[in-house]
Amino acid sequence: MFPRYVLNPKSFKKVTGYSNCIVIGSGIAGLSTAINLSKQHKVKILTKSTLPESTTWYAQGGIAAAIKKPDFWKNHYEDTIEAGQGLCDSSAVKILVRKAPKMIEKLIEFGINFDISSGEISLTTEGGHSFPRILHAGGDATGEEIEKKLVENAKNSKNIEFYPNYFVTDILAYKNRVIGVMGLDTDKNLLEIHPCSYIILASGGIGQLYELTTNPEISTGDGIAMAYRAGASIMDIEFIQFHPTVFKTKDGSLFLISEALRGEGAYLRDCNGKRFMLNKHPRAELAPRDIVVKEMVRVMNESQCHYVYLDATHLPRSMLKIRFPNIISKLKENGLDLKKDLIKVSPAAHYMNGGVKTGHDGLTDIEGLYSCGEVAATGAHGANRLASNSLIEGLVYGWNIYKDINKKLKRETADKNNIKKNIEKVLAKPQTAVLKEKKIKDIDKIISELRTIMSENVGILRDKKGLLEARDFIENYVTNKDLYGRKTKKAKELINMLTVAKLIINAARIRKESRGTHQRNDYPQKDNKNWKKHIIQKNGKIFYKEVE
Ligand code: SIN
Repeated sequence: MFPRYVLNPKSFKKVTGYSNCIVIGSGIAGLSTAINLSKQHKVKILTKSTLPESTTWYAQGGIAAAIKKPDFWKNHYEDTIEAGQGLCDSSAVKILVRKAPKMIEKLIEFGINFDISSGEISLTTEGGHSFPRILHAGGDATGEEIEKKLVENAKNSKNIEFYPNYFVTDILAYKNRVIGVMGLDTDKNLLEIHPCSYIILASGGIGQLYELTTNPEISTGDGIAMAYRAGASIMDIEFIQFHPTVFKTKDGSLFLISEALRGEGAYLRDCNGKRFMLNKHPRAELAPRDIVVKEMVRVMNESQCHYVYLDATHLPRSMLKIRFPNIISKLKENGLDLKKDLIKVSPAAHYMNGGVKTGHDGLTDIEGLYSCGEVAATGAHGANRLASNSLIEGLVYGWNIYKDINKKLKRETADKNNIKKNIEKVLAKPQTAVLKEKKIKDIDKIISELRTIMSENVGILRDKKGLLEARDFIENYVTNKDLYGRKTKKAKELINMLTVAKLIINAARIRKESRGTHQRNDYPQKDNKNWKKHIIQKNGKIFYKEVE
């Protein structure tokens, strides 16, 4: 059904020099792993846009870690498990929350300046957290501060080679072991092969599959699609998290309003001004994100309004100024004052809870292929990620990957000749799945239709009819030969988007229950008897895995 490659590997123009490790993506997961590996090994970073352009850059609220008593990793563990609605793997969560404080120390060593108050790191709370444990930087510019400092650190390393504006099209593997990647230098329109022993897939999420998203343009699910084509297992992909409070600017673009604002005491009101989260959850506006979004959709439907209000007017202006300078300035550009005005917000696609299945060492089921950050499914998020657990997950599992690869590289010498020979063997095989090039319809139009059908039928609320309609739409294009023949980056992104959409729809159709970020109108209850398990897709087949 899906061709093995989106570009014919035989059409490459150049085989570049060998490197021990290739990192795909340059957010917190990719950069931190690359920096750690580069202490001993040669690393290439291949990234689709500029180096800092990543989902990390746009993270506002912060990064979660139980760093100060009376908080303790066990509280962080319990909150993560509760948010995950029965689908978190407990050992994966334990690794995450126990290592989190150590990883914060590493970030401080990298030069990241977290906000301080009264001489101590300032901590706030967000939805689903029972203690203030969210560190932040620059008020509401946590991701930007982390990303800038990691880029600086990476640039200071002599062992890292950078390939920005570089679109990795496929992972090359021989007998289930990686041997390199194939990538398009989009500046030169040059297809190249990069031989390597280890690949760290840290290419982020899939937000662009939806009309409304907090994610940047690069988030087209390339990592999931290429890993799937190479034979990796994809797990929990039906769980797409929508962020409750996204603001539409005058020019129609979307701007995230951090959950930290509710952490500092802001309220949600329906369009008649009534607080609707009271009596819905003991934590009211600070309930886990999936619960808040579900209530928002209910009140928006009931009141026939396409928004709810975020109300920070009762909070001190001095605090708002220090904590939310970017949000204040964005609202000001749109003629609004956070202290005086109610802000219209609605949910938007924000985070993929599932992804490429990995073990605790970050290894996928392809030898040499590791995955971390949003593209990975470590089992730590279950059916709904706890707020601010994403940056820390990228760091913790990136660290585990570094440790594992470092251990392996210490005891083995890379057999570069063998890798070269295996690349030749892969290229010599007829690429029957790569189809001929022809003229094709308007790619932008197909993307726009895909985003509409994903938003309407595979978004916050789903049902059988809508999922089947979406499946039929995808089938029409996944088998479209013209699309596969087209060589532009956009056409390849569209193939990746269709591939991921298909995987989401498959899993969403199979999971006949409502849990966390997967809500079905036709199966509104959680069904622990039948569905307390992960859905895994690999090579066109479905598997199930019990929750650990
Ligand atoms: C936010 O600042 O609200 C985003 C935090 C997150 O998604 O973890």
